[in-house]
Amino acid sequence: MHPSSPPAAKSTIEVLYSAEQIAAKIQEMADAITARMGSDFMVIALLKGSFVFAADLVRALDHAHCHPQIDFMTLSSYGKNKESSGIVTVERDLSDTVKDKHILLIDDILESGQTLNYARELLNERGAKSLTIAVLLDKPGKRKVELTADFVGFTIPDKFVVGFGLDYANYYRELPFIGYLP
Ligand code: IMP
Ligand code: MG
Repeated sequence: MHPSSPPAAKSTIEVLYSAEQIAAKIQEMADAITARMGSDFMVIALLKGSFVFAADLVRALDHAHCHPQIDFMTLSSYGKNKESSGIVTVERDLSDTVKDKHILLIDDILESGQTLNYARELLNERGAKSLTIAVLLDKPGKRKVELTADFVGFTIPDKFVVGFGLDYANYYRELPFIGYLP
């Protein structure tokens, strides 16, 4: 069962990346994405985890003079709180078509790779013209399927992180930094 209040106070969370460090990294990523992809693409943000990253990345793209279309898809992988089962389902689908479009697929974190792999296969089946993957965090130590992101913000060790959209039992998504639960 999910707890009815956050299991640990915000003050006990050890900061891994501050809001300032994250903002600088996201602008760097947006500049690199624009340099490689131009402006003719659609951003697909995987919910819920990537909503904060997506909001900041698209504004950083604007700053880089890049003006993509944007759509969202909610995927969930059932499982225990800190470990995903690997069985991914679409909870809410895109509203737009991806056929013949260049897609920038974004997520908060790449861990086992199962979520992004599922999304990638689905969008390929639907006829996307190309697929580029950007994640804010990469935890390569936990990979279960072969998947490499084209753009990575920070590569992190094998520890559970929260904040900046990332949750534990749907808590901590609002934190402006990324940190370790105690
Ligand atoms: P994957 O399918 O194992 O690559 O996991 C991707 C999803 O698991 C992400 O979209 C996150 O929602 C979640 N996730 C993986 N690692 C963490 C973490 O350290 N903290 C919070 N959520 C995580
Ligand atoms: Mg999650």
